Amino acid sequence: MINPLRGMKDLTFEESRRYIHIISTAVNIAKRYGYSYIETPILEETALFKRSVGNSSDIVNKEMYQFEDKGGYDVCMRPEGTAGVARAFISDKLDRQPIKQKFYYHGPMFRYERPQKGRLREFHQFGCESFGEASVYEDFTIITMISQIFDALGIGFDLQINSLGCTVCMPPYKQNLVSFLTDIKEDLCEDCNRRIDTNPIRVLDCKNKTCQLLLSNSQKLIDNLCDECENDFKKLTVLLDQAGIHYTIDTNLVRGLDYYNKTAFEFVSNEIGSQSAIAGGGRYDRLVEFLDGKPTPAVGFAIGIERIMELVKMPETAREGIYLGAMNDDAIEPLLALAARKRLETKVTIEYNAKGFKSHMKGADKAEAKYVALIGEDELKNGTIWIKDIESREEKTVPLETF
Ligand code: HAM
Repeated sequence: MINPLRGMKDLTFEESRRYIHIISTAVNIAKRYGYSYIETPILEETALFKRSVGNSSDIVNKEMYQFEDKGGYDVCMRPEGTAGVARAFISDKLDRQPIKQKFYYHGPMFRYERPQKGRLREFHQFGCESFGEASVYEDFTIITMISQIFDALGIGFDLQINSLGCTVCMPPYKQNLVSFLTDIKEDLCEDCNRRIDTNPIRVLDCKNKTCQLLLSNSQKLIDNLCDECENDFKKLTVLLDQAGIHYTIDTNLVRGLDYYNKTAFEFVSNEIGSQSAIAGGGRYDRLVEFLDGKPTPAVGFAIGIERIMELVKMPETAREGIYLGAMNDDAIEPLLALAARKRLETKVTIEYNAKGFKSHMKGADKAEAKYVALIGEDELKNGTIWIKDIESREEKTVPLETF
């Protein structure tokens, strides 16, 4: 028997119902915010992710599904959606148009991580990317949109925010951080030691307790922002306060992808165990330029669908459509034509075997049909069909052609 690969799974029945509900709720809200659907390839050149997510990130270093294709190209299954959307934005020359562009997407992402609860190797994201808007109002708007999506799905969350500064304030901060880290190098863990040279900012979110303790004495970027970044961050907090969106400032929130600057945020849930991040995002004003496009400010986010699957409050399912059944063999074929006609307007479940009344009633119940419609001997003789509304219990017999 062939099973799915480790860290990958099938979505069926209740889970797939939840999946569709989450996606359609998010899509409806994203459309109200002016986002349009974008579909980008799952397979991209490896160079795209190296240049965007970053060579020193765990995703690129350890987790990529990377291989040489039959043409000898170095390719990679996308580990996230932003890089591909930014590439498409540039490939389609949208960076050369003065219009602001907003895209939403959803689909599978691939990271070769150690699978555990909430951490898969194939998982699904719903994401949004807004290009061309530098105002912090857009950061606020995007956070509002995510909180509306979670509210609509009945999911509680904690919002954590930080600012990662810009090309003015980040480099001097990084330099200071490196000299601070170099002094305490011997006491830091192996990962942190490697990161001092490759990506010192990532040291800040090391989960090791000793490292955390040592880092509590480090300078915080949030206290060393340039005027513009500081004003924007303050503005964001004021707007969130006014909107009643509760947040905490986490000065160690740096995100695992290298393209971010200024606003960075994560939505976390305390109901799902250690993999608690249910959405993440932020501003990435330099990514389009890194990928050889015209400098374009941008901000976006992605929600991890599997992580919220168990949290979502599903709406009650209402009975829907018609169950069609025959009580003798001759009545089955007339039902086929009727099913095709009725399917133009509603859901139809048809039973191909002639059965008794009770058995059909059970079938209609299982199909969660609103109506049951049966043809027995009398109906067949008279060219009629018997119909019952399962909820109101009303029943009637009508000519087949008028049903
Ligand atoms: P990310 O934080 O890497 O950001 O992923 C976003 C969300 O995807 C996470 O918060 C989590 O819910 C989910 N996720 C990540 N890895 C896994 C996994 N192995 N298994 C299950 N769920 C997972 C990004 O991907 C950015 N592209 C977000 C973004 C969009 N930033 C700007 N625009």
